[in-house]
Amino acid sequence: MDLPVCHLVHWDDIDRWADALAGKISAAGRSPETIVGLTRGGWVPSRLLADRLGVKHLAALRAQHWGVTATQTGKAEITEKLTSPVDGRSVLVVDDITDTGESLRLAVEHVRATGPRQVESAAFLHITHSKYVPTYYAEEVPKERWAWFIFPWNYWEDIRTLSAKALPEGKDSAGVRQLLLEQAKIAVPEADVRQALAPPANRS
Ligand code: ADE
Repeated sequence: MDLPVCHLVHWDDIDRWADALAGKISAAGRSPETIVGLTRGGWVPSRLLADRLGVKHLAALRAQHWGVTATQTGKAEITEKLTSPVDGRSVLVVDDITDTGESLRLAVEHVRATGPRQVESAAFLHITHSKYVPTYYAEEVPKERWAWFIFPWNYWEDIRTLSAKALPEGKDSAGVRQLLLEQAKIAVPEADVRQALAPPANRS
């Protein structure tokens, strides 16, 4: 059993990236009329950017390429269409990270096909092997430093998936915590591992 190397993202990282992105977009002289947040990873980044840029109109679009923690689902696809029309508007499509870049590329194409005046894209993190480069990103991650980034909005899902994977070898919450430390390189409180491994009905 191999766990992917992970990186725990904290809220102060998120604040820094949101500030940096908003700064880059403003410096480029842009003020989007609509922000389209990719579900699910782009929702919180979209809301934070909307607040910083004073954008009132938010829409959602679901593009899927990744399933549970660090597993790709095959081909990227749009699984839920744009929630409101953006024709004639200037649009910013937002996700948390571009890794393969397929989700954001597909989402931008989908939005473009609906007739906006202009479409740009943004992500907090951009991994350099991504085939699609967002118009704006806060930080570049060299492909040699690829990791699974555990964003605060995905914390429990990721810890649940990783803990379940480590359980047969780790045997109990202490053993799982140790494997998370050794293989995934993340320090997770044992109480969180216990909570993640509890059946849904017993979760507090
Ligand atoms: N979604 C796609 N790639 C990811 C990564 N490396 N970390 C977190 N979420 C992702």
